[in-house]
Amino acid sequence: TRVGVFFGGVSVEHEVSVISALQAIKSIDENQYEVVPVYISKDRNWYTGEELLDIEAYKDLKQLLQHAQKVSMTASENGNVILQKDPVPKFGKRAVAEIDVAFPIVHGTFGEDGALQGLFELYGIPYVGCDVMSSAAGMDKVVMKQILRDSSLPVLEYVWFYSSHWAEDSEDMKAMVEEKLGYPVIVKPANLGSSVGINKAENTDELDDAVEEAMSFASKILIERMVTDMKEVNCSVVGDYEEVEASVIEEVLKSEEILSYQDKYQGGGKDGDAAKGMESTDRVIPAPLDDNMTKEVQELAKDTFQLLGCSGVSRIDFLIDEMTNQVYVNEINTIPGSLSFYLWDPAGKDYQTLTSQLIQLALK
Ligand code: DAL
Ligand code: MG
Repeated sequence: TRVGVFFGGVSVEHEVSVISALQAIKSIDENQYEVVPVYISKDRNWYTGEELLDIEAYKDLKQLLQHAQKVSMTASENGNVILQKDPVPKFGKRAVAEIDVAFPIVHGTFGEDGALQGLFELYGIPYVGCDVMSSAAGMDKVVMKQILRDSSLPVLEYVWFYSSHWAEDSEDMKAMVEEKLGYPVIVKPANLGSSVGINKAENTDELDDAVEEAMSFASKILIERMVTDMKEVNCSVVGDYEEVEASVIEEVLKSEEILSYQDKYQGGGKDGDAAKGMESTDRVIPAPLDDNMTKEVQELAKDTFQLLGCSGVSRIDFLIDEMTNQVYVNEINTIPGSLSFYLWDPAGKDYQTLTSQLIQLALK
């Protein structure tokens, strides 16, 4: 079985994707599958070639990042170009026709949002992970909340609008935010990952600034009530609409209130962080939650995954209000960093078993 692993991409999470893909490629069972690497450069050229499979051992974040950059460069210099921006049919002939199943490991815009998935649909190629609808719904934080709220899953109170509404009537909009949510609030572009353009606001002036900044990244804006004393926990789910399982839960410890893109992907990072999706944060696995809370989070993770129509592996991120013990579904990552393999490992599902399961689910 020939497995096309697609990685890189145009989003701000390009490097993260290269790392996630290198890890996954390393773990794919050689006896069962032949990997065809397909690298998408930031300028939207598509490359393939043996060079992309030359994966060195890596240990720390810096080394891994350097390797990721080298792979990107080697790919652009020596790889065969299989798709330049326009001639899509060439892509069909040279790569897609030669693979049995696609394994997209591209985070964020155009990779995790249904765009790439739509291309595989057009070519009639089975692919790992969420379909077009669930990818798109998972990427848009407003749509995700609307779907979950419709089934009474707990999400934080929110307000959303398009930038044009804000431009027309910011005073009314501000009054609505203040009345419905109070302060502090978190302002986010509705459909970007990696904390880009996300800011906290504690008063009207800060709200203005935060909305301005979010609007520089996206035209759809989400504002949420901010929980001040909270824990962040994540849980991964594997399966599809018929059957799902939830992983152990991790607690994410961080020093700042909002983990910036800088913190997440460009910060110092401790040894080993690179192998867990590159966030330079501390994690506790399993999260120190009591049995009831653990069960609640795992059930909510499975419900979120199935309500959105997901398949493959996702990581669902939660906030727990430490004052009330109320759990909120915060977001879903339908192509999570490192494919969340480190959350499956403790329960005995190693990375190779996980990638094999994902490929089998795609071919089901
Ligand atoms: N979007 C990144 C890769 C994650 O949260 O896993
Ligand atoms: Mg995310």
